[in-house]
Amino acid sequence: MPLVNVIRGERIEPAPFNVRTPYLKVPLWLVLVGWTVKYCFRLGVLLVKHWPVTTPALLLGWLYLRFDWYGPVVLVGALAVVGGAWFLAHRPSFERFAGYPVLGRWRRWTYRRHWLPAMATSGLAVTFDGRAVIPVLKRVRCNDAADVLTIRMVTGQIPDDFAKVSERLAHTFGARACRVAAGARPDLVTVTLLRTDPLVATVEPFLVADVPDFTALPLGRREDGKVYALRLFGTQVLVVGATDAGKGSVIWSLLRAMAAGIASGLVQVWAFDPKGGMELAAGRPLFARFACDDFEAMADMLEEAVATMRERTARLRGKTRQHVPTIGDPLIVIVIDELAALTAYLTNRQLKDRVKAALGVLLTQGRAVGVHVIACLQDPRKEVLPFRDLFPTRIGLRLTEEAHVDLTLGEGARDRGALCDRIPRSSPGVAYVVLDGGPTPMRVRFSYLTDNDVTDLAQTYGRLRPVATGGEAA
Ligand SMILES: Nc1ncnc2c1ncn2[C@@H]1O[C@H](COP(=O)(O)OP(=O)(O)OP(=O)(O)O)[C@@H](O)[C@H]1O
Ligand SMILES: [Mg+2]
Repeated sequence: MPLVNVIRGERIEPAPFNVRTPYLKVPLWLVLVGWTVKYCFRLGVLLVKHWPVTTPALLLGWLYLRFDWYGPVVLVGALAVVGGAWFLAHRPSFERFAGYPVLGRWRRWTYRRHWLPAMATSGLAVTFDGRAVIPVLKRVRCNDAADVLTIRMVTGQIPDDFAKVSERLAHTFGARACRVAAGARPDLVTVTLLRTDPLVATVEPFLVADVPDFTALPLGRREDGKVYALRLFGTQVLVVGATDAGKGSVIWSLLRAMAAGIASGLVQVWAFDPKGGMELAAGRPLFARFACDDFEAMADMLEEAVATMRERTARLRGKTRQHVPTIGDPLIVIVIDELAALTAYLTNRQLKDRVKAALGVLLTQGRAVGVHVIACLQDPRKEVLPFRDLFPTRIGLRLTEEAHVDLTLGEGARDRGALCDRIPRSSPGVAYVVLDGGPTPMRVRFSYLTDNDVTDLAQTYGRLRPVATGGEAA
């Protein structure tokens, strides 16, 4: 006769061990109490978790019970009046502390509704041990141009995984563009979904700070609505852009950001305008040295900068590793409009070699002793600029060819979204820059100073009275 085990009425095939769980008789009242406690606890958790909805609802409910309809109506009316007055009196603070936080919560809820399918279809859901694991949407912050999503990545993911599908994410969430940056912690990534384009309109010049902050000079607006600030300390800057791309606006935005320092003597600008002074001559009073048509004078000036740098290096050696600008020992900023005129198109071979040698030394050794070079260029090819790689900070304005993008911003920059060759001619001053800590380049627009703004700037902050251009300063 076959051996059959029956446990709680169920037939079980014979096995070496058959384990039977013991019966435990629980009275019905205890079961009911248990369920009640369990569901009350779950309700409590839900109420606490969704406090932005439950707290006002409970408050309104209590007011209704206590004062009838008057209670909730008076509260809502008072809030509307206070909010309206705040909005009218000081809109920026209203938006910052009331409008955008509320909008952010609302948006987080809308993103969460589509989160699972969005993550799955964009390939960011990871299957592990037979289960799908998806990144967690932690927070949504809003501003007038973008939603900034803070996301906790799944173990094993890196921000580049998000950067690779950024276009897909933009279309999935109906955004104009999507930019990815590393988050505040290694497990977080920041995804910025751009709703409108704040770079369509020309960016007005910024207010001049009394003391320039050389670690964050405001030069323009970023496409996520924030201010684009350049860290000048410890770097050399190369600005590349086709003709009429707006290289002038980068130079003038920078000069404006440093203007108070120029006036106080904390900054000395040595300006080179090899195209005959067309761009920079109007700012003559701002410059400690200026050369525009004499290439010999330019070579001399660069060699003088090298000599100053060497003298400084000898003085600071062993005392500090980073020069701190003072009025007696100012930051020297060498501004060169059209660098190729000095390094490639110059016919006098001897002069060209002198310029190249001096520039090479300045670019490799100047940073630590407060000598910085800001150079503009139309064509980033190596034949034109042999020491392209000596510029740690590069700015890519509108470029004529796809290949120029990677030459300017570094290998793979175009694949990661720096579409400099697609910037329309109608948007001069728009550029892509690589920000610290982000794999995706950021689109920015530099502030634009009209001729009158430039004249005003020179008159207000210039240390020297305008003199004829060419050669050294008076
Ligand atoms: N940031 C900006 N915002 C708005 N308009 C700008 C901006 N920058 C430049 N422009 C406009 O574009 C024109 C060309 O700019 P700019 O002279 O700076 O170009 P460039 O790159 O220096 O060209 P080139 O190589 O020929 O000197 C300017 O006359 C100005 O009208
Ligand atoms: Mg120019």
